[in-house]
Amino acid sequence: MTMLDEQAREVLRRNDRGGYTVPTDGLYPYQWNWDSAFAAWGFATFDLPRAWQELETLMAAQWDDGMVPHIIFHRSDPGYFPGPDVWATNRTPATSGISQPPVAASLARLIWQEDEEMGQARLAALYPRLVAWHRWWHDKRCTHGPAAITHPWESGRDNCPDWDIGMAGVDSSGVGEYTRRDTGHVDPSMRPSKAEYDRYIAMVQFGVSVGWDQQRIVAEGPFLMADPGITFILLRAHQDLAVLGRALGQDVSEIESWAMELRNALPLIWNPVLQAYDAKNLRTGEFAGVLGSGAFLAYLAGAANPELDAQLMRVWDAVQYGIPSADPEAEIFDPRRYWRGPAWPVVNSLMAIGLRDAGRDDLVARLKNETAELIERHGFFEYFDPIDATPCGGDNFTWTAAIWLTWAGKDRGEERAKGAA
Ligand code: GLC
Repeated sequence: MTMLDEQAREVLRRNDRGGYTVPTDGLYPYQWNWDSAFAAWGFATFDLPRAWQELETLMAAQWDDGMVPHIIFHRSDPGYFPGPDVWATNRTPATSGISQPPVAASLARLIWQEDEEMGQARLAALYPRLVAWHRWWHDKRCTHGPAAITHPWESGRDNCPDWDIGMAGVDSSGVGEYTRRDTGHVDPSMRPSKAEYDRYIAMVQFGVSVGWDQQRIVAEGPFLMADPGITFILLRAHQDLAVLGRALGQDVSEIESWAMELRNALPLIWNPVLQAYDAKNLRTGEFAGVLGSGAFLAYLAGAANPELDAQLMRVWDAVQYGIPSADPEAEIFDPRRYWRGPAWPVVNSLMAIGLRDAGRDDLVARLKNETAELIERHGFFEYFDPIDATPCGGDNFTWTAAIWLTWAGKDRGEERAKGAA
């Protein structure tokens, strides 16, 4: 075990709040949905029971309709805005009212593969909840074909340029006064602008105004966009969930039908002008016209093609450390601002799974090497400038530590020794 492996474990342990892990101390003081699934994957490298427990606390916050919320506010923390009082979902524990990328089934499958015998019972208990969550995605968010999001935060790629056209239609004139907390923790130039934040809050206020009725939010809410990122993550997760179901002796035909429907919807998010998968404003039918990490998650779902391969290499070769979250040759590219250009180790780890399955070992090795270098040079930061490696956002980040342990840092000592020989 290397010193960085030990430090990565330490990050997970220190961010453990007793059964759930915060993304990082200060900036994100609660349990976040997909962060938590990555935390579980990280814990699985040295503490399998703790890994299962992480997924259990996450799924325990599931709503009656099957949604697993994007934040679970276990203990109130004044250092974060918008907190439970703003979301006002009337749940115990308090939660937000939207979801987040459903990576849990895919990562549960990886954890279970490490723990098939002992993990079988824990998996069996989680399985019905995972199925109910996937059904929620199918019924409530795939009504237009591809997976839709009702708030940019639901995408997990909060501030990416994909959402700009949808955000432009959000009226924020009535949001009123509030105090942001994020800009007190990290450099404001890396965070969303005030105008963007006003719109985020306006969308939350709409959810509150309809009592978080998901059907009304989809039908009448201020924002509804098809998200290639979630579409591919969900498609992959349906497949992984079906594998888990089969291993548990369950009938998985319903899950398989969701996957088939979703795959059949992929042409709806292929933008022929952009030559890539693209986000789409479902209120207007307009494409975002933005190439970014959502499109490249197609690898995870086995949905890439030669055009996308060419785009991937173009954007990757334009930076030093891949894969940039937005196109470096586009005007909106901003190498240090949230999701508008930076490289996110955690997203790289998902793409690497897809590239590996596609037999692109050369690309997996390159991506792993570049991701590992970022972490070796600067530590477990939230994300990085893809041109000069500047560490950005929060430090001691759970998911960056987790993907170091599960992927980027794996066998790194031996690889470096080989390289030097
Ligand atoms: C930011 C990210 C989101 C993540 C959260 C906690 O909001 O955009 O994906 O889940 O931070 O790390």
